[in-house]
Amino acid sequence: MNNITTIPQHVAIVMDGNGRWAKKRFLPRSAGHAAGQNAVEKIIKASIERGIGILTLFAFSSENWRRPTEEIHALMNLFMKGLTEHVPALHEKNIRIRFIGHIAGLSLSLQQKIAASEALTLNNTGLQFVLAMNYGGQLDIVHATQRLALAVRDGALDIDAITPERFNSHLYTTDLAPPDLFIRTSGELRLSNFLLWQLAYSELYFTEVLWPDFNGKQLDLALSAYATRKRRYGSV
Ligand code: FPP
Repeated sequence: MNNITTIPQHVAIVMDGNGRWAKKRFLPRSAGHAAGQNAVEKIIKASIERGIGILTLFAFSSENWRRPTEEIHALMNLFMKGLTEHVPALHEKNIRIRFIGHIAGLSLSLQQKIAASEALTLNNTGLQFVLAMNYGGQLDIVHATQRLALAVRDGALDIDAITPERFNSHLYTTDLAPPDLFIRTSGELRLSNFLLWQLAYSELYFTEVLWPDFNGKQLDLALSAYATRKRRYGSV
């Protein structure tokens, strides 16, 4: 399939540039998001072919509510439609779908769709496809802290027992290994509140390519760059 020797187990992507992609074509921003969804399908397929184990995509941030109502509606409709249309095929491919973020803050119909998608694919053993929705890295950390604080308050947890490992297990990502490779498209050089704790030792890769144009070839460029990195985790 490809000759890249070191394949990251977990790849996390900020899918940026849908709006600019649409603007260049004199199309509404929602058309950019729809084109972005096609790129998602391509990257799921390519990830499986390359042997990636976990693919996490930033679909909607806890700050994206600041966008125009019309755009938020278009995005939510796209998520609803996308899940309805594609989850059966993802299930067929043995993909496990998981969601991270403040899911209770989404519409009831979307919450139900999310719960059904997770339940249907729970025992699948192929690619773990993680969608970050209404997700914010700072909120993730605060949410974990609140849960630990409750346990301490109730006498169920000793303060000294709050280790990085225990803290990690209370994040939305719980048992998922941290990303090995972080990718952001469209030339922006920011994390934008994505997986702040989890990206501590990830390799970072930025590309000018807009998300709707990101494909298997672009993924291979990122994987090639990753393969040349020497990961030291603080050692020499
Ligand atoms: C960022 O581009 C993109 C988003 C906020 C939305 C991402 C969503 C998709 C790609 C649809 C995925 C669908 C499913 C079912 C997972 P931007 O709007 O910030 O672009 P800009 O920076 O060029 O304005």
